[in-house]
Amino acid sequence: MMMSEATETKKLVNNDFSNVMFDRHSVRNFDPSVKISRDELQKMISEATSAPSACNLQSWHFVVIDTPEAKEKLKSAAMKFNYPQIDSSSAIIFIAGDTQSHEVYRDVWTKVYKDSKIDKARLDQILGTFLPLYENASRDFLTLDATIDGSVVGMQLLLIARAHGYDANAWSGYDFEKIIPAVGLDPKRFVPVMAVAVGKADKSKDILHTDRYDAKTLTDFL
Ligand SMILES: Cc1cc2nc3c(=O)[nH]c(=O)nc-3n(C[C@H](O)[C@H](O)[C@H](O)COP(=O)(O)O)c2cc1C
Repeated sequence: MMMSEATETKKLVNNDFSNVMFDRHSVRNFDPSVKISRDELQKMISEATSAPSACNLQSWHFVVIDTPEAKEKLKSAAMKFNYPQIDSSSAIIFIAGDTQSHEVYRDVWTKVYKDSKIDKARLDQILGTFLPLYENASRDFLTLDATIDGSVVGMQLLLIARAHGYDANAWSGYDFEKIIPAVGLDPKRFVPVMAVAVGKADKSKDILHTDRYDAKTLTDFL
C-alpha cells in the first residue's frame, strides 16, 4: 500500500492508534522535571492543525505557556483545581477561536488555486458561496464556528501529544472573561476554547480512569 508523503514524514514515538486513542486518560499530575522543547511543541501544534475546519477557515490560535512567569499569568484566570496541571506540566497550549479568520479566507483559497489544487471556477464558487456567509455573520455565529474548529484541533492535539509519547489534560475551568486577556490576546477578536496541559505523567500519582455512558442509549437512527 502506498503511503502519502505526509504519512511517511511523520516519525511518531507511539504510532499504535488503538493505544493512542483508547489508553488516553486525562493526566493532571505531571513529572515537573520533563521539559518539552519549543520546537517539539510547535511540531505538535502544526501536526494537530491537519484537523478539518468549517470551510477550511482554520479559526484557531495557540498560545504556549511554558515559563513560570507565563504560568502565573494563566493562573490569574484559572480555577484553583487546575493549578496542579499548570504547575507540573511541561507546557499548557491554550487554544483560542479566531472570529476574524475569514479576513484571510481569500488568501487561503487563492493559495490552493495557485498551487493548482483547484481550478478558477472552483475558486470563484468557494469564495462566492462562503465569503458572504462569514462577512455578514453575527458575532454569535462566528464564535460558535471558531469554537467548533478549536475543539476539533484540540482533540487532535490531545492525541498527537500521546503519539509523541506524552500525556495531556484538556481543561476549561477558567474565568471565560479573564482568560483571553490573561494569555495576551484581544477579547474583541478571540474566544476561549480550551487549555491543553502536556507533559509526562507523574508515575507516583494515580490517574483517574473514567467510564462512559452506553452510546446506544445516546444514539438515534433517523
Ligand atoms: C472541554 C473540556 C473541559 C475540561 N475541563 C477540565 C478542567 O477544568 N479540569 C480538569 O481537571 N479536567 C477537565 N477536563 C477533563 C475531563 O474531566 C475529562 O476529559 C473527563 O472526565 C473524561 O476523562 P478522560 O479524559 O480521562 O477520558 C475537561 C475536558 C474537556 C473536553
